[in-house]
Amino acid sequence: MKTRLVLSNTVTVLSLALVLIALSSFSFAQAKPQPVDAEGHQWWQHAVFYEVYPRSFADSNNNGIGDLKGITSKLSYLRDLGVDAIWITPCFPSPQVDFGYDVSNYEDIDPMYGTLADFDVMVKDGQKKNVKIILDFVVNHTSDQHPWFVDSKSSKTANHRDWYIWRDGRGANQPPNNWISIFGGPAWKFDPKTSQWYYHIFYAEQPDLNWRNPAVEKAMFDVTRWWYRRGVAGFRLDAVDRMFEDPDLRDNPVLPGTTEYGDPRTESKYNAKLPEMHDELKGLRKVADEHNAVLIGETWTKDVAELKEYYGNGNDELQMPMDFLFTKVDKVSPAEFRRQIAGVESSGGWPVFVLSNHDIVRAYNRYGDGTHNDEIAKLMAGFYLTLRGTPIMYYGEEIGMENNDPKSKDDVKDPIGRRGWPEEKGRDGERTPMQWDASKNAGFSTADHTWLRVPPSAAEYNVQSESRDPNSILSFYKSLLALRRSEPALQGESCVFLNRDDPFVLSFLRKNPHHGESILVVLNMSPQPRQLALHLAPYGITQRTATVLLSSPQPSSQSISLANLTLAPFAVFLASVR
Ligand code: GLC
Repeated sequence: MKTRLVLSNTVTVLSLALVLIALSSFSFAQAKPQPVDAEGHQWWQHAVFYEVYPRSFADSNNNGIGDLKGITSKLSYLRDLGVDAIWITPCFPSPQVDFGYDVSNYEDIDPMYGTLADFDVMVKDGQKKNVKIILDFVVNHTSDQHPWFVDSKSSKTANHRDWYIWRDGRGANQPPNNWISIFGGPAWKFDPKTSQWYYHIFYAEQPDLNWRNPAVEKAMFDVTRWWYRRGVAGFRLDAVDRMFEDPDLRDNPVLPGTTEYGDPRTESKYNAKLPEMHDELKGLRKVADEHNAVLIGETWTKDVAELKEYYGNGNDELQMPMDFLFTKVDKVSPAEFRRQIAGVESSGGWPVFVLSNHDIVRAYNRYGDGTHNDEIAKLMAGFYLTLRGTPIMYYGEEIGMENNDPKSKDDVKDPIGRRGWPEEKGRDGERTPMQWDASKNAGFSTADHTWLRVPPSAAEYNVQSESRDPNSILSFYKSLLALRRSEPALQGESCVFLNRDDPFVLSFLRKNPHHGESILVVLNMSPQPRQLALHLAPYGITQRTATVLLSSPQPSSQSISLANLTLAPFAVFLASVR
């Protein structure tokens, strides 16, 4: 009896141990994201990301503002376009002072956009269609309506008092220091109730969280876990460089001149890019790795050295810090692009390319010369979607959407524009509704008034019309993204720049050691026709001709001679070479 009991106890203990081992190896397997190819790339290195501004994508209830059901209804479109993951800018409950970047509850959906049930449907449908969902994580600040801040503000001894940054002023009407808000004016607001000032690097309605408080850290880490459990595949970390401030709140050095809002110009020495941020990024990355998720960073940097820091020593911080230095090359210049790409490559990290987003004037306008805008839109696509790295598209870029700035101050919705008009028109222009067809409001909504107006060019530049036109920007994007998916060379590590002194034509070779075929990308970044000779023997390419896979304008022949290439103004082509 006794022996049997001991035995059965031993069996129980043993099976428990086995279960524990199985569980721990399961979590270990989870903690080590698995590569998806022979070169060891992760899923997000193969993926094409696409930013959705939810107010403007698709309006299912026709109230003039987009919503989650609208996004879900367009997942097939996105899949067919060749998108693997969408990053949705904040769709959480919010007073919408900064259109969602003022979050009042991190674990819900704003009723304007739908419900958590709608969110779950979107994730499920995305899983069926292989479109992952990435959320925007506003790490630096909450809304002043967030219960944490409401409590924090209520008294000096409130539970959440230390969740934000409160200080006494330097004297009557004197903020604690000289820090300036990015959106204009002092970065401090006086609260008469407790006679202290709170810090806000953006609007006063966006108080900064105090990440030095472990309770804040825990609550925010838990937010990511909560969404991972709901099927989210990662986050884009908003204003990540602003997470920490100098604990002594030292004055920033003053620079000559004033900002566009008339404030003194200061360096951000004591309230940006503080090293403490990297510990948090490492921690957030650990949680992400447990879920095979990706962290994208809104990483404005002054140079590549700063960008490099975001990857972390040993690539243990952000997998995808965006290279905004690339967007600063505001003209189609081979020399500047070569320099910029060499820079990001030298960081040792995996490059992340964007052309524009909800804060930047649309690429169609920034790169367009007014005469060849459509050709340039295709050229830029052929460029950044074929480089080594992961691209993040901005909705509407694929149809050549243009900026539609407000015509008068009364029309401006973005507070930056209202404050800075007319020099600063704000960001409404790049946030207008997606153009689906030529009907009312470009098919975005049947409402009489949409939150922002669609430009007249929507009659021509829309998904429906462009789907029917084989020469449209949309058709070019579709073919290009299909090639990106089917050609291993475009997903490989190797990207060799050719004819590096050519001031007009940018060309490079994509190779994959595990696949015989290489892809040649040639881009004429000038308004004149160009002649070009390419000698690819040093790169193991012995054939003297190439087969065109995709080209704008259409090629006269599929087979071209590498020794004698003629390129139309702003021509782009991809060809296979052996
Ligand atoms: C980021 C967002 C921007 C927002 C700001 C404040 O820069 O991209 O749209 O206004 O953060 O949250």
